[in-house]
Amino acid sequence: MQNSAHNSLQGSLFFSEPSSSSLASAGAHEKAAALRDAIAAHDHRYYVLDAPIISDAEYDTLYRELQQLETQHPELIVPDSPTQRVGGKPLSEFPAVRHTVPMLSIRTETNTEASGARAFDTRIRRELGLTENDPPIAYLAELKFDGLAVNLRYENGVLVRGATRGDGETGEDVTQNIRTLRAIPLRLNTGDDQPPETIEIRGEVYMRRADFEKFNDHQRAAREKTFANPRNLAAGSLRQLDSTITAKRPLSFFAYGLGEVIGWKLPKTHGGVLDAIEHFGLPLDKHRQRVLGAEGLIAFHQNIAALKGDLPFDIDGVVYKVDSLALQQQLGFSTREPRWAVAHKYPAQEQFTTVQHIDVQVGRTGKLTPVAKLSPVFVGGVTVTNATLHNEDEAKRKDVRIGDTVIVRRAGDVIPEIVAVVIERRPENTHAFEMPRRCPVCDSTVTREEGEADVYCSGELFCPAQRKQALRHFAGRRAMDIEGFGSKIIEQLVDKAMVQSAADLYRLTQDDFINLDRMAEKSAANLCVALEKSKQTTLERFIFALGIRHVGEATARDLAHHFRSLDALMAADSNALIAVPEIGEVMANSIPSFFSEPRNRDVIAALRAAGVCWPDVVVAETISGQLTGLTFALTGTLPTMSRDEATHCIIDAGGKVTGTVSKKTSYVLAGEAPGSTLAKAQALKIPILDEAALLRMIEKPLRKR
Ligand code: IVH
Repeated sequence: MQNSAHNSLQGSLFFSEPSSSSLASAGAHEKAAALRDAIAAHDHRYYVLDAPIISDAEYDTLYRELQQLETQHPELIVPDSPTQRVGGKPLSEFPAVRHTVPMLSIRTETNTEASGARAFDTRIRRELGLTENDPPIAYLAELKFDGLAVNLRYENGVLVRGATRGDGETGEDVTQNIRTLRAIPLRLNTGDDQPPETIEIRGEVYMRRADFEKFNDHQRAAREKTFANPRNLAAGSLRQLDSTITAKRPLSFFAYGLGEVIGWKLPKTHGGVLDAIEHFGLPLDKHRQRVLGAEGLIAFHQNIAALKGDLPFDIDGVVYKVDSLALQQQLGFSTREPRWAVAHKYPAQEQFTTVQHIDVQVGRTGKLTPVAKLSPVFVGGVTVTNATLHNEDEAKRKDVRIGDTVIVRRAGDVIPEIVAVVIERRPENTHAFEMPRRCPVCDSTVTREEGEADVYCSGELFCPAQRKQALRHFAGRRAMDIEGFGSKIIEQLVDKAMVQSAADLYRLTQDDFINLDRMAEKSAANLCVALEKSKQTTLERFIFALGIRHVGEATARDLAHHFRSLDALMAADSNALIAVPEIGEVMANSIPSFFSEPRNRDVIAALRAAGVCWPDVVVAETISGQLTGLTFALTGTLPTMSRDEATHCIIDAGGKVTGTVSKKTSYVLAGEAPGSTLAKAQALKIPILDEAALLRMIEKPLRKR
């Protein structure tokens, strides 16, 4: 269907002629018409099909050529010329427009579960007098766009009026503004066919989420008003009395139906109508689908639920319409709504609630995070009581205050967030949130580095909050793996001042544990066993367990392999560290600063004295490896080797393998479906190898599959 829409426009797409100055006035008429068609076709490709075939510069050339021609021959200006999209004086008010065919609303199905679709199908079948033995009804299922409804009136193929829905009977004439939407053709594309005498096309003006965000960002930077959601901005933009303002707003449009029609043979189905509108050159959403019976509707509801979050625009649910126009007619209308359509929403992802408190939490690294404590609210399938405000800037930007009514959103697995404050419902005497100047847990001063968003407590391990999390990290499964040392136990050990540092853990006895809340003798004994067991560890686990800022598991492994002993690592200065391929500047500084701190050295000495130990790191020496001195990063699936095999292959030949690409990477080994590593390698101009090239480097024959 879409293809023929291209084809019928194709004739004019490659317009190129000598410049207009050489044309006599007689030819100017044809030339202007051809330019108008070409520009309209490029607008269609760009704004509707999202598939432009000329550059912006080439487009501008065509546009200027037409403008010039029209300046020289003002008699050539026609209302559907692309140069006439923006213009006209600002209005003092919008004239009223009476809709010849009323713009109705749709009934909403109240059950938001997918199965709710069944109620609509049951009702339709009943009203049509069908029994179980009759075949399923065909429906056209569409998205319910979240914008505002407009009616576009075309007479003899030319857009003559655009109007808002208003109260359904009378709307506002927003023609000047509608004309600024490049996705809406000023003339219908009917190929060689006669255009309908009159056809009203109805649809939704909306704004894409990215356009909305970008617009709000601009406004914020200019300290201008921002909008709560894309729908408000779309509505505000379409209802500007000065159309030059509307022209600057990135509005989009989707058609979904018809109003008055004169002199046009209607297709037999609603789906056919939409296809015809698409042929005329208007934008239609591609998710629309013809489905059969309740099962078809349910499946559509579920499919859209799954992809809804990835759509570039917001939707307000889906709409089901009986596909056959004959059946639609038979079903008819109730007072305000057609009986043949229903809107079906999704369970709310947003709810109102109030802010009881704003807590400031202190993380393992000392980072302070403001968290809004909310009156419990059920949203997106779970009860939400907390929403992070991320950092000082974000908290200020949202200006969330204690006592505020806020909109909370939770979509899918995403952590709940506060979308906006309902300023109208703000109680009196509230205060803007201020990040504390001192740590709320240990009262140490807090610091914020220049250019950084985060604020840190300077108390380090003196701060009980940091200490608790540092101990949890130390005992964690991927670190020292001390079974049973969860947050409840550690919390008590710190609060009862039984443990100051990680080394203190190993001084605890069964008697100490017995005194903790709800601790049975057996569990106390188990904790002792777990502590004892954890003493036998590996160097990489131990390095990771120390919780040095920026040192994750992979880095801990790299450090262990490179330095092979803790003493060597502790003695390394930033120069020695930067020489390690995986270590960047930030870590090259944070590691020596950690080890130079006397308190940290004392804890390490105490841990060793308590018997924490690890075997020597043995790294296979390769005497004359072909890959000695080279560092590889792997990405994607290789044709014959697994990742592990490839890694061993490289290491056996004296090379190194790292998890990320940096300037120090010698080669990237890429297979099928590579990740972002490949793009990064290309950006850094790091040579990329495939498996065969690697095997050639190490002179191994390619394995048969
Ligand atoms: S059909 C007779 N289809 O929802 C039925 N409406 O309450 C007329 N809407 O104001 C509407 N997406 O702006 C229809 N795919 C869609 C729609 C849709 C959004 C809006 C429309 C109307 C409201 C109905």
